[in-house]
Amino acid sequence: MNNKGNIVLIGFMGAGKTTVGRWISQNVNMKYIDTDDYIEAGQNMTIKDIFANYGEEFFRDLETKALEELCEGCSQTVISVGGGMPVRDINRKLMKKLGTVVYLKAAEEELARRLDGDDKRPMLAGQDLRKRIHELIMQREDAYLDASDVVINTMGMSMNGIYNAIEDYINDGG
Ligand code: S3P
Repeated sequence: MNNKGNIVLIGFMGAGKTTVGRWISQNVNMKYIDTDDYIEAGQNMTIKDIFANYGEEFFRDLETKALEELCEGCSQTVISVGGGMPVRDINRKLMKKLGTVVYLKAAEEELARRLDGDDKRPMLAGQDLRKRIHELIMQREDAYLDASDVVINTMGMSMNGIYNAIEDYINDGG
């Protein structure tokens, strides 16, 4: 394992990063941070309002800054990051520095089911949901794969099963 003992969860919106991250921190002796929450607390504003007031690039800069700050002080922590975090090269480098990077994957139909009716995610707003999910995954898949140390297809897996897969990877010298 990376010497700080952190686990970084990446993946598309709705892939379960937050749920898995919370579950791990509650069941194993690890802290939990979600970069979206971290950014919202820092700005005292929701992600939706940050996008609406300042635009996507401003939010992406905040994401990079959040990773830089977490690299300074985080250990024994599960960190879930926003679905767009791996797109920037610098973020992929920072995440590798931060910990073991785990890509949580779910089928597009399942993502669509989970994201249906969501009004908190500006990247999906006002568009055909299925088409938009497909389009963004096509744009991002290479970055997700490049960023990750291990890929877990979460479909049909329990929380315990997902955690065991991460632990197996780490114990095998990952
Ligand atoms: C985004 C994903 C969101 C959040 C923001 C942008 C994206 O996080 O960071 O709305 O570009 O995929 P989740 O993946 O936790 O929904």
